[in-house]
Amino acid sequence: MYPDLEGKTVLITGAGTGIGQAMARRFGQEKANVVINYFSDQENPDDTIVDIQKNGGQAVKIKGDVSKEEDVQAMIDKAVDTFGSLDVMINNAGIENEVPSTEMTLDNWNKVMSTNLTGMFLGCRDALKYMTDHGIEGSIINMSSVHQQIPWPHFVHYAASKGGAKLLTETLALEYAPKKIRVNSIAPGAIDTPINAEKFDDPALKKGVIELIPIGYIGKPEEVAACAVWLASKEASYVTGLTLYVDGGMTKYPGFQAGKG
Ligand code: NAI
Repeated sequence: MYPDLEGKTVLITGAGTGIGQAMARRFGQEKANVVINYFSDQENPDDTIVDIQKNGGQAVKIKGDVSKEEDVQAMIDKAVDTFGSLDVMINNAGIENEVPSTEMTLDNWNKVMSTNLTGMFLGCRDALKYMTDHGIEGSIINMSSVHQQIPWPHFVHYAASKGGAKLLTETLALEYAPKKIRVNSIAPGAIDTPINAEKFDDPALKKGVIELIPIGYIGKPEEVAACAVWLASKEASYVTGLTLYVDGGMTKYPGFQAGKG
């Protein structure tokens, strides 16, 4: 537990499902005020809100698209109007789809880039503006991926967006360190969430993924959330510009595990 998170206001994008939802619940356990951005009416943030309230936190929801300037501003306004501040911004929303690069339409490229990278930029920009205007020594966490490092054929838009997330995070960390605002990212490996549902429903594909993970299993969203609360807390007060890989060793060349090479 991180007592300094109690009463802090945390805005999480794409928190209707998966890692975002797990982070919302975990910040609730830390008794933070959680603003849940969700994207589709299929998602059910009300259950998450009830869980957070049961644990002594507070939560509100706001529907919105991170690629739209007015929606991102509305999310920040919701945090400030409801809870009086914004202390932690988590740019988590992201999408992917598999397409060979020569068949990728401009629309498809733009959709992934505008959600994953432009959405992250807008979230960072507006949160930093609020924090600097109000003298808040806040924390920003961007959800990247192991594919900020590992090339990924058929997912060139996704890999490019996460590669961009790396330097976006590092640049803003450098720019805002003098204001004591920390900007970090988390790069998950393979985590059991809806984004991977199709892949993990197929036993052969799932087995193939597990072979790429030295620790030997697919991660849980809660294991990512545990890192997010640490990064947001004072325990990480001297950490900025970091990419924290939460990947069971996936980025550590698992092909060499058998001692060959
Ligand atoms: P997910 O599909 O459960 O979550 C993504 C969320 O983003 C969904 O709730 C979706 O509705 C929301 N979203 C999509 N477009 C949006 C938009 N324009 N505006 C606002 N919200 C939008 O998948 P997951 O795994 O929880 O993904 C969360 C983040 O973690 C993503 O950025 C993803 O790239 C990243 N990630 C996930 C990995 C995994 O294995 N699950 C691995 C590496 C990174």
